Amino acid sequence: MDGVDFRRLWDELAPIGRAEAGGYLRFSWSDADLACRDWFRAQAAARDLRLETDRNGNLFAWWDPDAEAGEPNPAFGAADTSPRTGEAAPAARPDDDRRAVLTGSHFDSVPHGGAYDGPLGIVSAFLAVDRLRAEGAEPKRPIVIGAFTEEEGGRFGVPCLGSRLMAGAIDPDRARALTDTGGTTLAQAMREAGADPDALGPDPERLANLGAFVELHIEQGRNLGDAPVGVASAIWPHGRWRLTFTGAADHAGTTRLPDRRDPMLTFAFAVLAARKEARLADGLATIGRVAVEPNATNAIAAKVTAWLDSRAADAATLEAILSGFESKVRDRAERDGTGFAIAPESETPIVEFDTGLRDRIATLLGEGAASDRVPGGARERAPVLPTGAGHDAGVLAAHVPTAMLFVRNPTGVSHAPGESASDEDCAAGVDALAAVLRDLAC
Ligand code: GLV
Ligand code: MN
Ligand code: MN
Ligand code: MN
Repeated sequence: MDGVDFRRLWDELAPIGRAEAGGYLRFSWSDADLACRDWFRAQAAARDLRLETDRNGNLFAWWDPDAEAGEPNPAFGAADTSPRTGEAAPAARPDDDRRAVLTGSHFDSVPHGGAYDGPLGIVSAFLAVDRLRAEGAEPKRPIVIGAFTEEEGGRFGVPCLGSRLMAGAIDPDRARALTDTGGTTLAQAMREAGADPDALGPDPERLANLGAFVELHIEQGRNLGDAPVGVASAIWPHGRWRLTFTGAADHAGTTRLPDRRDPMLTFAFAVLAARKEARLADGLATIGRVAVEPNATNAIAAKVTAWLDSRAADAATLEAILSGFESKVRDRAERDGTGFAIAPESETPIVEFDTGLRDRIATLLGEGAASDRVPGGARERAPVLPTGAGHDAGVLAAHVPTAMLFVRNPTGVSHAPGESASDEDCAAGVDALAAVLRDLAC
């Protein structure tokens, strides 16, 4: 595949959800998300792939050789028959060699996020299927393209929500009650979009019928050097915590400094403390979101809510950052006369991807299609690297042998408009994904 072929399909999706102020606003169940879903349905229909929407709003497009031969995979019904309420119907588990190979990613973005984080994995999946078909490949097991809902947690706060629900890693009642910044619950947003929130819940049969998941994704930190494509080894443990600082609203012009209980002071200390604890422990901590009440220029704040994101190479380091942060901010709140509370919103333990699958792919890509694009000639194995970014692949890895392919990002910027990848590297990613699907499914 060349960059021109990649760009042709990429340009169809690229305008959806593009924000005038830069980057993308593709929040789950928004009009932009629904337009992405329509695009997915159209792509599936154009390729005669069977479309399914699961009980959690995740989309799947099936290239199923058994169905084409008139013998549908017994684990799955016809299009869109997934149960809307109650438990999933019991289904026979196909033999291992008939279990599907899933590939894909997500459409949703962080606020003003980049173009590639998520959509690259979906566009590449359709192009990889096209490539296999053009070569006359005959899969022995289904190849399925997936689009997971609310991977970023950009609207409802919990990342990988669609895959967590599928895996039973979040209580559906909690999910339904999550709110966006406007106070709309997930349940309301789904209803407004014509989806059924009562159906949300674990989907063990669907998971049990997946033989492998391979998510292709933009690399997010300029870590691939001279290689266009790499393979993930692990995802760092990470999480999100809600921080609440409370004080007393009062007049900015008449309240003496010693009489104030100003939660902004404690919050400001917390931002610096997060940075310092992360630096001391050699991990990462970020406070990138804040809401102030009443949010007036001439009134002392009554309440500050902020969100801490922290990540580290191992669980002990992450724990050290959190405990140091919490105790220092508590001390400071006491001195400021303010209240401070910290509550986890999502926690994700370290994910080590399936080593057999990872090594198989790294070797395959080292000798295969992607390597002839590496300047200086073929390398023995594709680079294998960990990431601090979370992915649906990390959630599914607990249930299904899972791997990730990374496509080079020359700026190293992600979750921001400057995220980028060259068309040639994206085409190399499609070649690599097609090689992996051929290896696993044909
Ligand atoms: C999601 O992309 C995350 O890593 O926060
Ligand atoms: Mn992301
Ligand atoms: Mn992503
Ligand atoms: Mn992610």
